[in-house]
Amino acid sequence: MRTVTVEGVDISIIGLGTWQFGSKDWGYGDEYASNEAGAIVQRALELGINLFDTAEIYGRGNSERILGQAIEGHRDQVFLASKILPIFPIPPVVEQRARGSLRRLGVDRIDLYQVHWPNPVVPLKLAMDGMRKLLDQGLIGHVGVSNFSLAQWKKAEELLGRPVLSNQVKASLVDRKPFAEMLDWAQQHDRLIIAYSPLGQGLLGAKYDAQHRPSGPARAMNALFLPENLERAGPLLQELRQVADAHGVSPAQVALAWVISHPNVVAIPGASSVAQLEANAAAADLVLDRAEIDALTRAAERFEPTRGLAAAPALVKGRLSRA
Ligand SMILES: NC(=O)c1ccc[n+]([C@@H]2O[C@H](COP(=O)([O-])OP(=O)(O)OC[C@H]3O[C@@H](n4cnc5c(N)ncnc54)[C@H](OP(=O)(O)O)[C@@H]3O)[C@@H](O)[C@H]2O)c1
Repeated sequence: MRTVTVEGVDISIIGLGTWQFGSKDWGYGDEYASNEAGAIVQRALELGINLFDTAEIYGRGNSERILGQAIEGHRDQVFLASKILPIFPIPPVVEQRARGSLRRLGVDRIDLYQVHWPNPVVPLKLAMDGMRKLLDQGLIGHVGVSNFSLAQWKKAEELLGRPVLSNQVKASLVDRKPFAEMLDWAQQHDRLIIAYSPLGQGLLGAKYDAQHRPSGPARAMNALFLPENLERAGPLLQELRQVADAHGVSPAQVALAWVISHPNVVAIPGASSVAQLEANAAAADLVLDRAEIDALTRAAERFEPTRGLAAAPALVKGRLSRA
């Protein structure tokens, strides 16, 4: 497995996202939580993946519990990342939340502890004071942030007085803003961008269309899966299929290869099966040429989904009709 090295740490270019583990948001059910999830982690370890991403909020702690059990006996192979839910991130709360995650994960150290979102009310200094204390106690190895703008990332680093190793942001062919905003800075400063939802929550697997939409609350609330947007995504998905056919791989693998073609970027796709995990891991070795990358970017630029406030009425209507 190819790795990206930042601050002397080797991180697999494809990691594993585990929001799906034990969470009702994805609707994968009990069998997935109690068997498939563990098998996905085992296979990921065999394939050389070391970055495993979870959060205290995923399945209200279930994801951390499932992941913790699955990595038992393999701790030295894992770069373990979790996130604090920053409701009131003052130092004693930060420590209490971290100790809760450590307990659920069954480890004595979290390698990368990330602030899940910026808190618009509580000054960032307080969260960073708490994080510094965790570093000093050896309870965490590195500090990360998530969903931070570049300015907020720099501020966090200044307040911590130490490197904030990574920013985990939504980044894929359908969410390209982070590449333009923070790639140069990450490269210049030996920092990492962790791309979440690198498959657009499965849209870029090219198996969904207006007549075949995914189930589960997470994607019911994702405007990309509105029928009109699935229609509009047609040409982008077609471009993905074309490049995939040329390489004898799947559209999802091409979408991941596009993400990790950017320097200082790793991707953490979730997986609903071991087969998907294997395909995603194999994408680490798929190299697209410049013309393919540009053609995909152009196709992505032409895809203009309805999003944000404009999509809200359709999302609410869809939710009500499913209820
Ligand atoms: N920091 C944050 O705020 C934040 C937010 C969201 C996510 N995350 C993290 O990022 C991880 C990944 O993001 P995500 O789960 O939102 O989206 P994603 O990785 O883009 O999509 C995951 C889904 O895509 C489908 N898929 C995966 N591999 C595939 C393949 N090879 N071929 C076809 N379909 C495939 C699966 O769904 P189906 O098979 O059911 O279609 C899977 O559940 C999460 O698990 C979590 O750890 C972080």
